[in-house]
Amino acid sequence: MQTQEIAADILVEIDVGNELLSAKEAIKRVLSSIDDFNDPKIRGSIHAYVMETLKRWNTLDFLIDLCLEKKKVKNLNPFLRNLLRIGVYEMFYKGVHPALATDSAVRIAKSRLGNKAAALVNAVLRRVEKVNFEKELKKLDYIKRLSVEMHHPEWYVKLSIKLLGKDAIDLMKANMRNTVYVRVNEIKSSVESVRRYLEKFCSVSETVLPYVFKVDDFEKHPSVLEWHEKGMYVVQDLASAIAAHSLQVSPGDVVIDLAAAPGIKTSQLAMLMENRGKIIAVDNSPQRMSRMKAKMKQLGVKIVDYRLCDGARFKFEGKVDRVLLDPPCSTTGAVRNYPCTKWRFDKYKYIATISLQKKMLKNALKLGNLILYSTCSITFDENEGNLIEFENYVRKLKPFKGFDSWKCCGIKEFDGKKFKKWRYVARLWPHIHDCCGFFISLLNGECYENRS
Ligand SMILES: C[S@@+](CC[C@H](N)C(=O)[O-])C[C@H]1O[C@@H](n2cnc3c(N)ncnc32)[C@H](O)[C@@H]1O
Repeated sequence: MQTQEIAADILVEIDVGNELLSAKEAIKRVLSSIDDFNDPKIRGSIHAYVMETLKRWNTLDFLIDLCLEKKKVKNLNPFLRNLLRIGVYEMFYKGVHPALATDSAVRIAKSRLGNKAAALVNAVLRRVEKVNFEKELKKLDYIKRLSVEMHHPEWYVKLSIKLLGKDAIDLMKANMRNTVYVRVNEIKSSVESVRRYLEKFCSVSETVLPYVFKVDDFEKHPSVLEWHEKGMYVVQDLASAIAAHSLQVSPGDVVIDLAAAPGIKTSQLAMLMENRGKIIAVDNSPQRMSRMKAKMKQLGVKIVDYRLCDGARFKFEGKVDRVLLDPPCSTTGAVRNYPCTKWRFDKYKYIATISLQKKMLKNALKLGNLILYSTCSITFDENEGNLIEFENYVRKLKPFKGFDSWKCCGIKEFDGKKFKKWRYVARLWPHIHDCCGFFISLLNGECYENRS
């Protein structure tokens, strides 16, 4: 089977069905169904095809629709439409010669779906090759044009313009890049030895956190190397690491992580606590919790007490020093790592998520003295908006020296809603800080009026 054919099968898994599989889950599912599929190079190439096609989904569909005579791309057979998307991605963005891209897609279509499908693929790709993209873009209104040009849905374009004005374009451009960060797991290794190990395969540079490296360039992705398998380091975005770092835990603390799985931040807290004290890890997903347990074992984390339950109702008797609340969110800040989320936004789910975040926040304030609230969302309502009610408890964030020069204040006002403590919280942005978009805040639970 060719790389493009496997990639199209993976895209079908993501595209259809009610499971809402992530790209990672779909890749795993399809590759595990192919016997003896272990070649890391081909795996890497398939991964790149899937992610790069997914990122540009709307633009590819726009081009295909221009070249379909009767049907729309969404009404085509799912394998066929994903094969076409890959073909268009290859010729428009990957620099593959159009004749080669067409030839390979036609052959795959013929072997999988027969002559009629092959003829359609041939006709569409030959027309796509001749499209004058710039001219077609000019026919669109401003929002639609930016959406097609920048590869983001229209709601995201509108949201980012509302949040950032003209800088929205920089945000959307930065969302198309991927920056890899590696967090050393000092439970099993040291900063120096991980640096020396990684330098054999990658070029790395320092970040604001001494135990997080930026991977500037790599021959092999850090996640496929032996030391990753051995738990010596974790691939973790810088923003996520800064969020957990900001809780300022110490060895011996009792910490509650109220939405813990898959445990990337839990394992960082355990490392900062030198594997001493206790972390009560709460999550309501059995599958994610079981993956988390395996991950903690791999990383040598020994201080976690797992609780499969609802973080909005969880109760705990006894002294708690810190609470981490990193609840489910719209993931609008992390579309560079999870491009599927751009195409799956659901308004009703979004409203329900905000309501859950608020309930979890109230519970967090009852549980601990110092609460870290973070999301990988860029929206106002999931972040500053959720804190308006608890504004009196918001404390100034100062995770590391020089943080104040990072230009990462919160948002003061949105849709007529005002947040006075915007200077106390932090927002990290892909186009400014070269990491995922994150919101980070600290709250004082000690004096919360509804504590029993
Ligand atoms: C953003 S993820 C947490 C990521 C985690 N902090 C990390 O760094 O690896 C949100 C988690 O909240 C969990 N979750 C969703 N609803 C929940 C609820 N009502 N109670 C507890 N956990 C919940 C999800 O299963 C998911 O694992």
